[in-house]
Amino acid sequence: MVVLTVAIDGPAAAGKGTIAKALARELGLRHLDTGSLYRAVALRVLGGEDAVAVARGLGPDDLADPRLRQPEVAQEASRVAAIPEVRAALLDFQKAFARAEGGAVLDGRDIGTVVCPEAEVKLFVTASAEARAARRHAEQVAAGQESSLERTLAEIRARDARDEGRDHAPLRAAGDAVVIDTSGLGIDEAVARALGVARARLGR
Ligand code: DC
Repeated sequence: MVVLTVAIDGPAAAGKGTIAKALARELGLRHLDTGSLYRAVALRVLGGEDAVAVARGLGPDDLADPRLRQPEVAQEASRVAAIPEVRAALLDFQKAFARAEGGAVLDGRDIGTVVCPEAEVKLFVTASAEARAARRHAEQVAAGQESSLERTLAEIRARDARDEGRDHAPLRAAGDAVVIDTSGLGIDEAVARALGVARARLGR
């Protein structure tokens, strides 16, 4: 069976989730938002549980909690993601997901570098911190959540610094990733560019 894996990495709010979903739909592949695994661990850590124990026993119900999208869960996710035993506990599931049933699109921080170094397509989706904060702020306002642009920018910068600066599987582009900067792009344009890269690589 032919297996195709598409690895999409990049910092918070660069558009990688939207691009990953669109590519999965267009290419007929399953999709895994790997950040949701770290968020699910973080949510239970905020509830007082041990990060490594939670990561080792994570189940499908953990991934369905709507509180995973909260900003404080995102910050805690970036903290638990620096613990090597947490990363190790989540690795096999991600690797297996990527190669099962004909392949998948995975988005995260270390997919092209650590989880799927053999991926057929690798994208690094990025944008300026200001553009990403403006987007995230607009999403929060549209969802009726209390939000401040300044605070959102500070949160994004803190998370970038932690994700890029950790010792284990830090956020960085794989040497063979195609970089897409979405700062000046609308979502349709960003998706079209990513799909163009993927189709050119896959010949389909
Ligand atoms: O993509 P996200 O914002 O949902 O990710 C939340 C945090 O999880 C992110 O700040 C760092 C961590 N993460 C990671 O370390 N590795 C991944 N592959 C995905 C997410």
